[in-house]
Amino acid sequence: MASSPRFILLSLLIFFSLSHAQTSSSHSKPKALVLPISKDASTLQYLTHLNLGTPSLQTTLVVDLGGRHLWIDCSSGYQSSTYRPGHCGSASCSLAKADCVSICPNPARPGCNNNTCKVLAKNSVFGGFLIPEVAIDTISIRSTDGSKAGSHVSIPNFIFACAESFDLINLASGAKGMLGLAKERVSMPTQLSSAFGGSFRRKFAICLPSNPKANGVLFFGDSPYQFHPGYDTSKVVEVSSSFRYTKLHVNYETTASPRLQGAQLPEYFVKITSILVNQKPVPINSTLLDFHKTGIGGSRITTVQPYTTLETAIYKSFVKVFDEQMLVTTGNRKVRKVAAVSPFKDCYRKEDLDMSLLGFSVPDIYLVFENRDVNWLITGANSMVEVSNDVVCLGFLDRGPNTGLTTTSIDIGAHQLQDNLLQFDIAASRLAFTSTLLLREVECSNFKF
Ligand SMILES: *[C@@H]1O[C@H](CO)[C@@H](O)[C@H](O)[C@H]1NC(C)=O
Ligand SMILES: *[C@@H]1O[C@H](CO)[C@@H](O)[C@H](O)[C@H]1NC(C)=O
Repeated sequence: MASSPRFILLSLLIFFSLSHAQTSSSHSKPKALVLPISKDASTLQYLTHLNLGTPSLQTTLVVDLGGRHLWIDCSSGYQSSTYRPGHCGSASCSLAKADCVSICPNPARPGCNNNTCKVLAKNSVFGGFLIPEVAIDTISIRSTDGSKAGSHVSIPNFIFACAESFDLINLASGAKGMLGLAKERVSMPTQLSSAFGGSFRRKFAICLPSNPKANGVLFFGDSPYQFHPGYDTSKVVEVSSSFRYTKLHVNYETTASPRLQGAQLPEYFVKITSILVNQKPVPINSTLLDFHKTGIGGSRITTVQPYTTLETAIYKSFVKVFDEQMLVTTGNRKVRKVAAVSPFKDCYRKEDLDMSLLGFSVPDIYLVFENRDVNWLITGANSMVEVSNDVVCLGFLDRGPNTGLTTTSIDIGAHQLQDNLLQFDIAASRLAFTSTLLLREVECSNFKF
């Protein structure tokens, strides 16, 4: 779908608009910007608040790491004196008339105007597509020097998409849309770096909070990443000194025929080459971990799936090794398994597990990337989920066997990303990750807003 005329139009539109974009405060170009991220306890979605329009109104959005667009519901009271629809008559839209599709009944309003361009966007929580109107307005985000949030910076001519309230299906209560962070010209990281130019790098970093009552942080551009352990401002930890690096891979949409290559996907893919539990490798057929032109295989990072999902053969093999290693971790003391608690399959009696600063004392999991020295450590805080006062479950899910329709073999989900800082360097196609910040007594909520 990404190769459709609509997307070609969009690319041209974005290119044209960005080359005309200016920032209001040209004398004070920030090097980095920050948004808070909170966890919605009932849906396990991650939310951010963005100031949009004139006068500026705070809008709650679901963070979608792999999303192409910022889209919001404009149908219920979007009012802004600086709003402009992407008009077909404008230079940008005239580049591809095929996308000038809309006819709207009176009265005109943001998201519903005659002769405007429309874009194919996605509600990736629900899994459905929407066709919102291309929209242009001012947004405002706080700058940062990496140690705390600073003053607001306004960014005019920001391109987003204006959807309808029924497009919000399955989003957390209060959310008005989604904030896409994908490697696309129209996504937030790219638009911000284009708006500020040279020293504002096409990079962002995400630190998801584990605690629903405290804010984590999303950084755009390049800056230090300074946190205060235990909220004690006399202590500062620069977490980038823990960075390890791996390549971000390109992957493709699956197509009906294995001989047709699909369009390039905007999401973030990494190549896991093996999984270790303690030091024991999980036997996995490497065909599942490799990327293929069919788009089936490989691994992806996502913020809209609450837990990591594994292809069935990987899941079975992983749990077998995990349970064997449990005895090694406990020094042969038996940890009793209990009945499954949906969506989890493998659950344990909580009283049989010890706790440490790194969560429940269970076997350490390592995701190993192409360079075999580069491991991502997952401890009990990220591997286990406490489902009740008595039961703790392994927070990895069996997503079923590979079929012609499935895509990645491993989707690294949000629970496994919490209290880790991940930096996506789009320009260099490189991921930097810290592993759990708990090793340094830092939580993602320890950034000072
Ligand atoms: C759009 O065009 C149709 C048909 O010409 C017209 O009936 C309608 O009032 C217009 N809507 C707006 C919002 O201008
Ligand atoms: C790995 O999986 C592929 C594809 O299903 C299969 O052709 C191959 O025989 C498998 N290799 C091993 C060693 O089981």
